[in-house]
Order: sequence, then C-alpha cells, then structure tokens
Amino acid sequence: MARPRLLVTRRIYPDVLERLIAHFEVSHNQESDTPRSKQELIDLIAPSEYLFCTVADRIDADILAAAQGLKMIATGAVGTNNIDLAACRARGIPVSNTPDVLTETTADFGWALIMATARRIGEAERYVRGGHWKGWSFDQITGVDVYGSTLGIIGMGRIGAAIARRAQGFGMQVLYHNRSRAQQEQAARYVDKETLLRSADFVILVVPYSQETHHLIAKAELALMKPTACLINIARGGVVNDADLLAALQARQIRAAGLDVFENEPALLPGFCQLDNAVLTPHIASATRATRGAMNHLAADNLLAHLAGRPLKTPVA
Ligand code: DGY
Repeated sequence: MARPRLLVTRRIYPDVLERLIAHFEVSHNQESDTPRSKQELIDLIAPSEYLFCTVADRIDADILAAAQGLKMIATGAVGTNNIDLAACRARGIPVSNTPDVLTETTADFGWALIMATARRIGEAERYVRGGHWKGWSFDQITGVDVYGSTLGIIGMGRIGAAIARRAQGFGMQVLYHNRSRAQQEQAARYVDKETLLRSADFVILVVPYSQETHHLIAKAELALMKPTACLINIARGGVVNDADLLAALQARQIRAAGLDVFENEPALLPGFCQLDNAVLTPHIASATRATRGAMNHLAADNLLAHLAGRPLKTPVA
C-alpha cells in the first residue's frame, strides 16, 4: 500500500528522519538547509498529506490552498505564529507544536542574555579579540549587578515561570505582567505593564506573537524604562518595534538590549550591528543539541500519532 506523503521543509535530525521514513514517503533535502522560497513550498506541498515545518516557514493561506490533500501539520517549535491557524481550523487540519521540551533550555538562554547585557560580555569579547586589552584597570568595561536587582517578565507562561525560578538564586525582586494572573509557586508579583517597565532593571519578553502583542514594546514603552535598564527579547520579532528600539539604544535612552529575535529575521536593521550596547544572537534560545533533538522527536511523535489514528501528543488548540 502506498505510504502517505510527508514534506519535511528543512534538515532534521537523522534518527528522526529514519523514524519517519519507516512510515511515510518523505520528501526532504538533508543536503541543504536553505530556507524554501514561497514558490518552492507551494510546489513541494501540493502532493503532500503531512507537513513537518519549522518556525522559519511561513505557512499562509496560499501555501495551504496549494495543499488540498493536507491532513496534518507538525511544527518543530512551540510558537505557531508562522502558521495560519484559522485557515487550518476551517479546513479541519490539526496542527501540533513542541511545548515543554524547550522550556528550561529557553529560560537558560534568557538568562544568558540577561548576564551578557549586564556584564557587557559581547563588547568585552570583541575588545579582547580586537587586541585592545593592554592591562587591568578599575574602570574597564564595567557593567551592572544582576544580583539583588529587579526583573520584569512580560509573559508568565511556562518559560516565563522558569525564568522567574532562576531569579530566586540571584536574590531578585520579580515582577511580571501577563494577560491573566499566573498561578505562582515562586515569588513573583503581578503588576501592570507600565509599572513593570518603570520599575525593572531587566525587562524580558516571553509572550507569543499575535496581533495583540505586535509592537508591545515601541517608542512609548521604551520611554517608560529606566535609562539604566536592559531589554531582553527571546519571544518573537514583531513583539518589539525594532526601529524604535534601535533609536533608543543609539540615544542611550536605555542601557542595553539582548536580542535573539528580530522583526524581519534573518535580516536586521543595519544599525544594530554598529551598537556596542546590544547583544545579538540568531534565534537560538532553544538551541542545545538535546533540546533541538527533543523538538524533532516530538514533532515526529505527533505525525506518527495522527497516522496511527491516535490523539496528537501536543495539539495546538
Ligand atoms: C520556538 O520553538 O517557537 C522557538 O522560537 C524556536 O525554537
């Protein structure tokens, strides 16, 4: 009997590919990891019944229209803002994502950016590599203390809560803002967004991207932040208005930013690379070998569950 056709848009882990090849007719290209153009996706998806996509594939109405036989989509990410979920619902196409397996790893990375901005790690590294280090001095690349400071978390979901737990070890006061008040097992105080922005030494964004969170941080919000504060974005490009943030960093209106995601990534507004007070990383918050492996496997688990007529392990509501 012919096996159902599965399109895998990007390179995946070989052991996961093996699991899938045992059950599907898999269309994939392990040789290249170049993102597919929209037209390529349209052409490739047309005969597919299953799709394994990533956060970098835009699965919009045009792509879905080209996939008339599509039965299910598994994305290898927790975020689903790249998928037209309303169109999927209308067509009865279930979608799965990869929550939980990346929570702790992503929280760790949020902390890496908090520490890197506070202690100017990127700048210090460039200084040493550039051969500028001529000796020790009291005022060389001085940063700010994290221990005992105030952390403001915008988005108190699983990752936000994991970040808050780590803050206890740093003796921090933790404020959070969320659509709804979270069930808190750790000491974090709910405040309105304005109070959080005015009070926090470190503001970290962990909200999903949606129409409601589009440009959640723009000129007006940046103006509320302390001039000594750092902004960390591990959420999504588009949650921050990048042009407004760039201007605020250039004017030293806030101290620094740690940015893992950008509005038009992988393209950056050119001014970002000229800034000393920004730590820039290429959307790697969940990128440990173990976690990316777990994300790959969970996507495969969901595809195989659907194929076997079982409920999806992690369906997107
Ligand atoms: C996600 O899972 O949504 C991340 O942004 C990619 O790891």
